[in-house]
Amino acid sequence: MKTAFFSTQSYDRDYFSRFNTRHELVFFEAPLNEKTVSLANGCQAVCVFVNDQLNEAVISQLAALGIQLIAMRCAGYNNVNLAAAQLHNIKVVRVPAYSPYAVAEHAVALILTLNRKTHKAYNRVREGNFSLEKLTGFDLHGKTVGVIGTGKIGQVFCDIMKGFGCRVLAFDLIANKELQAKGIEYLPLVQLLPQCDIISLHCPLTEQTRHIINSDTLGLMKPGVMLVNTSRGALIDTRSVIHALKSGQLRYLGIDVYEQEEKLFFHNLSEEIIEDDDIMRLMSFPNVLITSHQGFFTDEALIEIAKTTLQNITDAEEGKTLVNKIV
Ligand code: NAI
Repeated sequence: MKTAFFSTQSYDRDYFSRFNTRHELVFFEAPLNEKTVSLANGCQAVCVFVNDQLNEAVISQLAALGIQLIAMRCAGYNNVNLAAAQLHNIKVVRVPAYSPYAVAEHAVALILTLNRKTHKAYNRVREGNFSLEKLTGFDLHGKTVGVIGTGKIGQVFCDIMKGFGCRVLAFDLIANKELQAKGIEYLPLVQLLPQCDIISLHCPLTEQTRHIINSDTLGLMKPGVMLVNTSRGALIDTRSVIHALKSGQLRYLGIDVYEQEEKLFFHNLSEEIIEDDDIMRLMSFPNVLITSHQGFFTDEALIEIAKTTLQNITDAEEGKTLVNKIV
């Protein structure tokens, strides 16, 4: 199937070319949106990522170009108007699980870095500054960690934090029995938030979870809490979080995702004027750590993403059951 790949970086081209044996793949650096959709002309499928815009207008233009398949090379699909895809009879497939370890381990990396300030220590030592002043951290052992969303990634994250000797509390629409058997307690959000020293978000972005972290929920948290978000930016109301950082209610923030990330993440903007004042304010805090959506970014995950996506495209071409179909 001739497939137009949007928002590609060198690693997408490398991994997909390595595992592709039968499809014609056309790689574009441009994101998919109303201005770029015509690049898919002549293709039967598009392959897209987390920040491509698949709204109604784009999907109807894809349909007009004869696109039959939208292959997401990611797990989340909050950026796709599924009703529009169904209306135009375009199938949408994804990679539901490629490495829950990659994302869960990155959340832990954010926690450890924020806590033990290894990023600051690294720079200090390189400059001959061997002082420990202001590098004090805290033992993770014995602390209470709240996990919002205990699906594939959240479950791995719970197991890792258990390994550190933390008490783990969880909030999800459905309790995971395996985790409960390991002593993880499910609580309503309002009961979980005041007890946690660290809160990590692992639920998808839906209408229910948009801004689940807002001024009200931040107000319920223990003063001095650490918040980590490796899921989707819009789970957090950024302005409320900035306010909580200024007041000290939130002592640490680690984010791999950001509400307005599509204009920033995955691009080298080091010589540009960044107009997004919220991210600039977040970057100015000494207790905020931002990575640009790299939670998924391990060799194992990239191999799995390429293989599963190519198999999804092959199955669609051969008219087989699409095991990873969303609609
Ligand atoms: P999953 O579908 O296995 O788990 C999601 C869990 O969230 C489920 O247990 C579900 O019941 C729960 N949930 C749904 N709505 C909820 C609500 N309103 N309140 C509380 N819990 C709710 O998904 P998985 O694979 O664990 O991924 C989680 C999220 O991680 C994805 O939706 C995606 O946004 C994000 N992600 C981030 C990546 C990164 O590179 N930073 C890479 C991959 C995924």
